Amino acid sequence: MSLEKLDIYRVRNIVQASLLPSSGINFIFGKNGSGKSALLDALFILGRAKSFRSNSIKQVIQLNQPDLIVSAKLKHHNSTTTSLGIQLGLKSKTIHLNHQEIYSSSELAHVFPVQLITPKSYQLLDGGPQFRREFMDWGVFNMNHDFLTVWRSFKKALLHRNALLKKHDLKQINVWNQELAQYGTILTEYRQQYLILLEPFIRKIADIFIKINNPEIKFVTGWEKGYSYLDCLQQDLEKDLKFGYTHSGPHRGDFVFYSDGRIAKDFVSRGQLKALILTLKLAQVQLFKSDLSQDMCLLIDDFSSEFDSISRNKLLTFLSQLDNQVFITTNEFNEFGNIEMDGQYKVFHVEQGKVKLM
Ligand SMILES: Nc1ncnc2c1ncn2[C@@H]1O[C@H](COP(=O)(O)OP(=O)(O)OP(=O)(O)O)[C@@H](O)[C@H]1O
Ligand SMILES: [Mg+2]
Repeated sequence: MSLEKLDIYRVRNIVQASLLPSSGINFIFGKNGSGKSALLDALFILGRAKSFRSNSIKQVIQLNQPDLIVSAKLKHHNSTTTSLGIQLGLKSKTIHLNHQEIYSSSELAHVFPVQLITPKSYQLLDGGPQFRREFMDWGVFNMNHDFLTVWRSFKKALLHRNALLKKHDLKQINVWNQELAQYGTILTEYRQQYLILLEPFIRKIADIFIKINNPEIKFVTGWEKGYSYLDCLQQDLEKDLKFGYTHSGPHRGDFVFYSDGRIAKDFVSRGQLKALILTLKLAQVQLFKSDLSQDMCLLIDDFSSEFDSISRNKLLTFLSQLDNQVFITTNEFNEFGNIEMDGQYKVFHVEQGKVKLM
């Protein structure tokens, strides 16, 4: 799958832009403030129905405008096409798939999965566990269409149990313990299975970008080792009642990345940390491709600020062999290095919100 045509209206400083992207790598360059991240944000919005840069859509919609629109035509490997589009207003969201309105952003995310790498991605290993849960859950969401139902059921049970704890109402606590344990255990198994599938890809890619020894991921369930989740919920009851919330569970899940038996984030250099994060994100794209023969559109913002020239060359070689659509931005064209590669590519220049094919 790749975007064959892309139209953007009123996203930050982009009044209107139409692109016919390459199904391979799309190099986008332009000065600070020209609109490169705005372009990537438009692509992110098309896949996830939200901006990667602002929580408030008001910041993303062009000043003094009521809404933004991003629409596209996707071409699949079997040559069929899908049209999709999203319109976001201050309080409205309309999504179209093949000219029919759909009501679920998750459907959009399945049709057009996007993977994002930005300078902020270091949070994945350096930030709180919510970034790693998000990473695992995004992976599971793409691999397993049952994920969302399980995740929602888990969230609902957690809310109910926490409400009962706050009210010290124990009449129904066992019912919600059972419910929470059931969905929490499935969710945890999904995450664990996902990391097992991902690990060989991580090892292979880590070998290209960062020569660390014995990269290893250790999964953290979010409850005490050696016990079932249900047992933990029952054991924790007194403590949970005292604090008014559920201490154990997948909402506390995490993973730790080790290199040679040491916690990587505390051991590797800053540059190596970035390369590790790149590895994790690319592994996710490759697993998706190899297991489901599906593509994830890859967005890489601020390419040159992220990597030194050796890593940049390695990354370009990797991307050109990936057979996957990529959008990659930098300030100066020469920062891309040598882009005379075998694979397909196009170069775009962005200036004051206008996108031009070079
Ligand atoms: N809602 C908005 N309406 C109009 N313009 C906006 C809005 N939000 C941001 N801008 C402007 O859009 C411009 C493009 O920003 P963007 O972050 O895309 O630049 P960039 O090319 O990625 O720059 P850099 O190289 O510094 O990352 C900025 O000058 C910014 O001030
Ligand atoms: Mg930018």
